[in-house]
Amino acid sequence: MSSSFANPHTSNDLKRLRAFLAETLQKSGNPAPTAAGKPVQLLNLACGRADETAVLADVFGHGPEGIHLTGLDIRDREISEAKERWKKLHGQAAADFLVQDASKLSDLRELSDNFDVAFMRHQNFWNGDTTWSKIYDQALHRLNRDGMLVITSYFDREHQLALDAIQGLGAQLVCSERNADSRILPDAPQKSVDRHIAIFKKP
Ligand SMILES: C[S@@+](CC[C@H](N)C(=O)[O-])C[C@H]1O[C@@H](n2cnc3c(N)ncnc32)[C@H](O)[C@@H]1O
Repeated sequence: MSSSFANPHTSNDLKRLRAFLAETLQKSGNPAPTAAGKPVQLLNLACGRADETAVLADVFGHGPEGIHLTGLDIRDREISEAKERWKKLHGQAAADFLVQDASKLSDLRELSDNFDVAFMRHQNFWNGDTTWSKIYDQALHRLNRDGMLVITSYFDREHQLALDAIQGLGAQLVCSERNADSRILPDAPQKSVDRHIAIFKKP
């Protein structure tokens, strides 16, 4: 597993994400799923370089069978980086990465519809509400009955837009937490890394 990132802030951002995710899951009363007899299946939507892969493997991969992560993004350069970085993960964790438009998951016949977790870090709801509503809708359809959708957001306003949209699709908001420790971005004082996390369940 590689731990060196080009951005000097990334390692600490990921440490904070790990702590905030674990704490939010605990507060939500919905611990990380442990799928009986098979690895936990996690779908990482619009994952970009998927810097958070090892964090997700640690936080969600507690089950005896470990975890399998599937990362998708529309940009192939980012997916190539993710493939290179996460060729090998610790313990019983493995990851695949695909170049894919996440608003068109129905085109991807081979993708499971039995995911335990769908995850979306730094969603971009403000940047195309129709596309992002489709992405959330398709993500919810790929979850199993007990599955959870977890999102993080950079801004308060876009987080609220996403909360409204996802609940509008019929998902139940389990909890939404503001990260008091998130790193403010110097070029955008209202924006901070993993500023919010929200967890949803299927109704
Ligand atoms: C703000 S970035 C977040 C990337 C990553 N999750 C992170 O936190 O570093 C938003 C990502 O959405 C991806 N994206 C935008 N539209 C998409 C689509 N229709 N399908 C898949 N990925 C998409 C972009 O390529 C970009 O990587």
